[in-house]
Amino acid sequence: MWKLIVVNIVLISCFAIAKREHILINYDRGSWISNLNFETVINSSFLYSRCCNIFIDEHTDETDDLLGRFVNIYPNNYYVQYRSYECQGYFLLGSSVKKLVKMMQKYQIMKRQSGIINLQGQLLQGSAFYNPPFCYLSTSINKTINGIEGEFFIANDARELDGVEFQLFILMAQRLNFTWMIRKPNNNYRYGRKNGSDWHGGMIGQIFRKEVDIAFSGIWLTKDNYEFANLSISWYQLFIHFLVPRPKTKTSFWALTRPLSSEVWLAIIVTILFQSINVYIKAKINHNVPKRFKTYINTLTELIARLLGTWAPKKTQGLRLQLHLWHVTGLLFVTAYCSSLASRLTTPDYETRIDTIPQLIAANLSWGREGPIPKLMITSI
Ligand SMILES: *[C@@H]1O[C@H](CO)[C@@H](O)[C@H](O)[C@H]1NC(C)=O
Ligand SMILES: *[C@@H]1O[C@H](CO)[C@@H](O)[C@H](O)[C@H]1NC(C)=O
Ligand SMILES: *[C@@H]1O[C@H](CO)[C@@H](O)[C@H](O)[C@H]1NC(C)=O
Ligand SMILES: *[C@@H]1O[C@H](CO)[C@@H](O)[C@H](O)[C@H]1NC(C)=O
Ligand SMILES: *[C@@H]1O[C@H](CO)[C@@H](O)[C@H](O)[C@H]1NC(C)=O
Ligand SMILES: *[C@@H]1O[C@H](CO)[C@@H](O)[C@H](O)[C@H]1NC(C)=O
Repeated sequence: MWKLIVVNIVLISCFAIAKREHILINYDRGSWISNLNFETVINSSFLYSRCCNIFIDEHTDETDDLLGRFVNIYPNNYYVQYRSYECQGYFLLGSSVKKLVKMMQKYQIMKRQSGIINLQGQLLQGSAFYNPPFCYLSTSINKTINGIEGEFFIANDARELDGVEFQLFILMAQRLNFTWMIRKPNNNYRYGRKNGSDWHGGMIGQIFRKEVDIAFSGIWLTKDNYEFANLSISWYQLFIHFLVPRPKTKTSFWALTRPLSSEVWLAIIVTILFQSINVYIKAKINHNVPKRFKTYINTLTELIARLLGTWAPKKTQGLRLQLHLWHVTGLLFVTAYCSSLASRLTTPDYETRIDTIPQLIAANLSWGREGPIPKLMITSI
């Protein structure tokens, strides 16, 4: 069972009630909708409308009753049987569903096509002054417009058509399709001063006296400004950047060890020790092995020299195979080390870059002189 249709179309609120006979048979028990429900429906349907167009299809007791109740509840101005494009609320009273639908179709064309306002090239008067980096307008001429004399910016130099807020203003002008003239604040004040319940001079004064439609150029959100002008929502942009030193090239003596990992170095040292002890013990036991291996230092020196391929005495009885294999190992090791070192020397090695916040913290950077630790403690509970 449906009793009423509430259609909300973006800015237009259409409120329609079908005639009672089509819904309820019992006519004498008063209206079909209680006052409270009716008020709730009106309140929520016309939450944002500041005036209303009322259209009645046919006068009956029922529609007249509802109209009377609507007028009592609706707090703003309204037109009856009159279309005003400025009013964004619509209240349709019809005697049948068919007629209601017809009425709604008629009112569709009054709906705003999109949420964006088109000011149809109307001339807006603004107020601003030379205030880099917000506004760079500076050249002006004296003119009288609408009986008010003022200094207007010519704005015909590309360098003057710049500034953060001026650019925002230009974007608004393009989007909302209005033309503009910008004048300088008068009386030598930029923003003006509060004087009791009046405002003396400046851009806020121009807004207050409705000499201009819009003012910009570094207007602060202060209590006085709020009292005398409706300020827009403030614009802001927040960027957080860290400046960190460039990664430096690494210079360290230990760079020589870098071609091989520490595990490989460890393995090589252990192998040399193991091999030298092995050869030394063999020399003690086996008399065929040349005598020079009976001294441990000699053995160690010779094995390292053989590994690097710098010194290889010919007498190697009893150790020939072992030392040949040792030479092969040395060849592999030296080749691997040299080629890796060469590739590292051709590409300079840098410290790790700082790209993320944890890396920044880990880098433990300091800048300038360190001051005392602030007394203020920030605690979180
Ligand atoms: C409707 O709005 C008026 C004014 O805002 C308020 O006084 C009234 O209590 C509201 N009624 C309901 C039923 O919400
Ligand atoms: C802006 O307004 C002008 C003047 O009424 C009109 O000719 C033009 O079509 C409008 N532009 C847009 C994008 O609506
Ligand atoms: C415009 O008028 C102001 C005083 O109202 C004067 O100070 C200024 O020199 C005039 N500017 C020009 C370009 O005439
Ligand atoms: C402030 O207002 C008083 C009158 O209320 C007036 O006499 C005075 O000149 C005003 N001051 C300024 C700076 O306009
Ligand atoms: C701000 O706007 C509201 C509604 O549009 C208006 O009632 C009020 O007077 C304005 N305030 C000032 C300080 O202009
Ligand atoms: C950071 O550097 C300072 C001095 O430069 C030092 O006292 C502090 O211990 C360092 N902290 C860490 C975590 O390395």
